[in-house]
Amino acid sequence: VQTHPVPQPPTRPIVGNLPQIDSDNPVQSLISLAGEYGPFFKLRLVDTEMYVASSQELVNELCDESRFNKRLHGPLQEIRAFAGDGLFTAHNSEPNWEKAHRILMPAFGPIGVRGMFDRMLDIADQMFVRWERFGPDAPIDVADNMTRLTLDTIALCAFDYRFNSFYREELHPFVAAMVGALQEAGMRGRRLPGMNSLLVHKAQRYRSNAALMQSVAQQLIAERRRDPEGAAKQDLLNLMLNGRDPVTGEGLSDENIGYQMVTFLIAGHETTSGLLSFATYLLLKNPEAMARARAIVDAVLGDRMPRVEDLAQLRHIEQILMESLRLWPTASIFAVKPLEETVLGGRYPLKPSDTVLILEPVLHRDPAVWGPDAEAFRPERFAPETAAKLPPNAWKPFGNGARACIGRPFAMQEAQLVLTLMLQRFDIAFDDPGYRLKIHETLTIKPEGLRIRATPRRPSA
Ligand code: HEM
Repeated sequence: VQTHPVPQPPTRPIVGNLPQIDSDNPVQSLISLAGEYGPFFKLRLVDTEMYVASSQELVNELCDESRFNKRLHGPLQEIRAFAGDGLFTAHNSEPNWEKAHRILMPAFGPIGVRGMFDRMLDIADQMFVRWERFGPDAPIDVADNMTRLTLDTIALCAFDYRFNSFYREELHPFVAAMVGALQEAGMRGRRLPGMNSLLVHKAQRYRSNAALMQSVAQQLIAERRRDPEGAAKQDLLNLMLNGRDPVTGEGLSDENIGYQMVTFLIAGHETTSGLLSFATYLLLKNPEAMARARAIVDAVLGDRMPRVEDLAQLRHIEQILMESLRLWPTASIFAVKPLEETVLGGRYPLKPSDTVLILEPVLHRDPAVWGPDAEAFRPERFAPETAAKLPPNAWKPFGNGARACIGRPFAMQEAQLVLTLMLQRFDIAFDDPGYRLKIHETLTIKPEGLRIRATPRRPSA
């Protein structure tokens, strides 16, 4: 095989390419480096090397699970401090991954998720009733509202627990600990080697946040076991407590259940909240798309509350969400490693110790797949006849293969319902008509400072 050197931006002694990565905006730095160095380049951040891939041609190979599988890259390694061997942060080789995957999969299948519709509607209604009360003159912080909504939704659907985020200003202590721990996990990954152990106070806070999350989780487990009606509840917690792995016959330990609970709350809220925030932004920027979506919602629902059966007729809303995830995939990066030595794209040799980051925002704009108008918001791209013609692995917002997102049907149903209700009940507009999109990065991406005004379309009942 004729191998090729991999492009790499110029390095500095010791730090390597660290100066080229803005620590507050790592994804945006990678996007601009991809613009300069192309669909496959290499970086060295102090002592960590990685490759960054972003064309459909290369990503299609990287998604071949007979050659590559998931790598727990830096941020995920950090999150293990509080999500342990939960599904998201387990190594492929850890037995708890397969066991929990087999036990929990049915709950996230179409039937399981349809059963959660009423609880999703309960929380969405709380948010929109609040918007109605605010009236048309109050600016609404979209990402803040959507985060309260997605957190409350996953907690209610998964554990029958109410954070009641729409009834309090302060965050629930569990949520505050989680937000703090996630922020610190992000910072830890970006600090120079040795720094983390020097920042004693931050390390202490990190540990106490992790401990608080576990103790709330263990409390919920204990309460459920004590509750005489607990066994009748149809939620994830009962499945975790009582489910048996069909292969080993074993259940999950309380420690692992605690990690799964933290995992679902983390994985289940920021990504969906970012998706809803970007979809709102993109519809506001594309009034024709907004009008079309509104017309479909009105035709299907009129004034009545949506039911789970309506979702099949609201596929266009799903296409809007898919197109939003194409332009702004909220979990923007996932990482893989080769199972054995291999050559990528017939040109780049790779070995099992290598890490390849898949940079979705650039993959999702590959002109070879999406054409010269790749930057344009066109939900029709995901209409079934058009989507069927897309090459494989061109759209990867939910990751890949066995380690792809287990919560995809949950997230899509929730987001479809919320967007539908928003279009049905409100005329929305930018609070600042001159708003320019700015991306805020944590573990995920969100539009920063996006505020809207929402005018109820009809008097509330
Ligand atoms: C995994 C994206 C919503 C739970 C993943 C991965 C991605 C992703 C990219 C793969 C990560 C990797 O390869 O390292 C998203 C997006 C969402 C979303 C964009 C919303 C729009 C959810 C929800 C839940 C959830 C609502 C829970 C209810 C998980 C879990 C995993 C995962 C548990 C790990 C799966 C495994 O490895 O077995 N997600 N996710 N996600 N997601 Fe999601």
